Amino acid sequence: MKINMLNESGIIILDFGSQYTQLIARRIRENNVYSEILSPETKIDEILSKKPAGLILSGGPNSVYKSDAPKFDTRILSLDIPIMGICYGLQLLAHKDGGRISSSGDGEYGFASININKQSGLFSNISSESEVWMSHGDKIEEMPDRWQILATSSNGVIAAIGNENQSRVATQFHPEVSHTKEGKEIISNFLFKISNCTPNWTAGNFINEQINIIRERIGKKKVLVGVSGGVDSTVVAALLHKAVGENSIAVLIDHGLLRKNEAIDCVDALQKGLGVNINSYDESESFLSKLNMITDPEKKRKIIGNEFIFSFERIAENLGKIDFLAQGTLYPDIVESGFSKGKSAHVIKSHHNVGGLPENMDFELIEPLKDLFKDEVRKVGLELGLPKSLIQRHPFPGPGLGVRIIGEISRSRIKILQEADKIYMDILVEDNLYDEIWQAFAVLIPVQTVGVMGDQRTYENLLGLRAVTSQDGMTADWFRMPSDTLSKISNRIVNNVQGINRVVYDITSKPPGTIEWE
Ligand code: XMP
Repeated sequence: MKINMLNESGIIILDFGSQYTQLIARRIRENNVYSEILSPETKIDEILSKKPAGLILSGGPNSVYKSDAPKFDTRILSLDIPIMGICYGLQLLAHKDGGRISSSGDGEYGFASININKQSGLFSNISSESEVWMSHGDKIEEMPDRWQILATSSNGVIAAIGNENQSRVATQFHPEVSHTKEGKEIISNFLFKISNCTPNWTAGNFINEQINIIRERIGKKKVLVGVSGGVDSTVVAALLHKAVGENSIAVLIDHGLLRKNEAIDCVDALQKGLGVNINSYDESESFLSKLNMITDPEKKRKIIGNEFIFSFERIAENLGKIDFLAQGTLYPDIVESGFSKGKSAHVIKSHHNVGGLPENMDFELIEPLKDLFKDEVRKVGLELGLPKSLIQRHPFPGPGLGVRIIGEISRSRIKILQEADKIYMDILVEDNLYDEIWQAFAVLIPVQTVGVMGDQRTYENLLGLRAVTSQDGMTADWFRMPSDTLSKISNRIVNNVQGINRVVYDITSKPPGTIEWE
């Protein structure tokens, strides 16, 4: 049975094709309110049956007068439900109520400051002058009757409007993007001061909803979960287990290039901690033999990707009939792949974040986290009972240590890097720095330098330390690591890891560098 999560407490977002629609949903979830993104063509009966507390009309790339503007059921505008329009949504509300929109060609893009004329409702407790993010070519030229201007931008553009009783409000700017300084509060005002939403949306509710959906889809069939040791796939494995128990089969392929104890920690947390049906397969022999003598980073990636497919196929074949494959795809993965959610909810190509999976395998994909952002996945993971140490883990690339051992990969070099990297991570935790950093790791550099230990000359490997801050890995800055911590890391590594006698710290941002060295 499908439960209606909206039920007079949540918001329906009609997606007119904005690149920010998922961000609107995210901001709503941040207020613990449930939301659903629907096509603008959704019929009024369906919307009414869901009983939303409010509606949001998203932005979009079209112009309201153009024949290719998305069609929608205009009767929605007469419903006795609060409606907020954002960007294109504002133009739509104004246009449908008799206002005039113009395309002068001189739009506003980027930061703008606005002056707020009326602080009630949408702008309750918002500064009278506030910084917002604009991204529009069209604008209101003539106001619709019985509407009033709530805010104006410093460029003279109408920035926000509302009808007489403020049951219809709209902003030309994007309150959902983080650049709009008080955007979160503005959305919160729409949810609670205008729409009467109930803040009952939690990670627990998300889990219950997904369990219902998954059970309905899978029935008594079997689902395979590829677990990489990272946060996302681990959370999916825990969720699938909770939904369908033994019919979910989790598989971790250990290519021999994981961090020290990573495979064991992950399997233990899932198997011993939550009773998940998971098996780890030591496939290191076939991976490492193929990588022997390979130094080119792209060749390494290709070999690892291909081996992954071979291993996966071999393992899956022995598991009997499997109909579904569950993956830890997140919303940013989909954005990166160039798919906009609203229009393509049913045709989203999977982002192969478990090292690239076989294309010719006949699985139906299950991607329960595909609407979430990383921090939301972490909340879901904690709620499912996974340990904090695993949930807060930094991202780890599919090819693993293979791209952190510069040059040739061998078991002895993997061991050196694993030991050094473990010390590095332990000290970051000890010094309470781990959670401040987006990603940190050590790199084994194929250069030997001279040192002196005791009275002995040494001639050993060089180790690089990398630590970056970032939002999403697309850009990054090097982390300003306290010098005492750097000193502690260097001393402990050189004193305890045989094969390393010198440590350097990478101070390159991205761009121009990348986060990984290969
Ligand atoms: P770069 O090095 O491109 O890394 O700045 C950005 C983020 O992506 C991760 N990364 C990968 N992840 N397969 C993956 O699954 C890969 O081949 C790969 N290369 C880089 C990297 O760890 C960082 O988080």
